[in-house]
Amino acid sequence: MKVVDTPQKMRELAETLRREEAPLGLVPTMGALHEGHISLIDRATSECGAAVVSIFVNPAQFAAGEDYDTYPRTYHADLEACREMGVACVYAPRANAMYPGGYDTWVDVPGLGAPLCGARRQGHFRGVATVVLKLLAACLPHRAYFGEKDYQQLVLIRRMTRDLDLGVEIVPCPIVREDDGMALSSRNAYLSADERSRARAISAALFDAKKKVAAGERLSAAIIQACVDELEEAGSRVDYVEIVEPATLERVETINGAARMAVAAYIGETRLIDNILLEPDDEA
Ligand code: PAJ
Repeated sequence: MKVVDTPQKMRELAETLRREEAPLGLVPTMGALHEGHISLIDRATSECGAAVVSIFVNPAQFAAGEDYDTYPRTYHADLEACREMGVACVYAPRANAMYPGGYDTWVDVPGLGAPLCGARRQGHFRGVATVVLKLLAACLPHRAYFGEKDYQQLVLIRRMTRDLDLGVEIVPCPIVREDDGMALSSRNAYLSADERSRARAISAALFDAKKKVAAGERLSAAIIQACVDELEEAGSRVDYVEIVEPATLERVETINGAARMAVAAYIGETRLIDNILLEPDDEA
């Protein structure tokens, strides 16, 4: 397995991999790899001729006061996991290789970047879109794998690749959950044992919402209110609960077709997100 740390060296290697081991797959990550990331890497290694995993904690997507400095970093274990999985190359640039002095180019997807997390995390999706474009430009993949865990990110990256004619296939991957339903996240490492048990309420509330839709409830307002109540009862502070159209992320008042329900909530100081697909023809 190769480990590469500059965009120039990555591009050089990617040109060979793309030509000789097509299709080339990319899994962009911020490291601290867990089973959610592993499921994406598994897909990429089994579906592609070669897979690149990028590990880069991207300063541009953290707002002032967020957890950039304390974000979990487990670089050596991450490399080992990638090696075991048959990854061809790990791309792990340093921040000053990605954003050298004078760096001044940014990618904005204003419509899809505005609602949900975009309304709460200033500049977050501009940082995400910019770094993903830079990762695609350095790694030259035919396909890039993204988790539905970060649903807004997935939709926005798909829009960016289409709008900019990047010719990269964006492959969505299902959310990997713990046995109790909780979505895996690098940020779960911040939770105390007590917080971890309260955090279960987030996925539980989403599964309850899905059950309500299966039982015939169609009004978003009622489903959202029940979810907020459940989260507050579990002692979490709700950032948002919304039901949106899956492609445009516009609010849905009445559930007539597939919709995404998305939650962001604080458990103690830790902000967690999760989401679920709601479908009116779900069976009760
Ligand atoms: P990170 O949070 O490390 O996530 C990397 C990828 O793993 C994302 O596509 C994310 O959706 C996916 N993922 C995380 N938890 C998952 C889970 N429980 N099930 C399925 N997939 C999961 O997302 C980022 O990094 C960054 O924003 C990045 C795209 C790398 C740009 O910096």
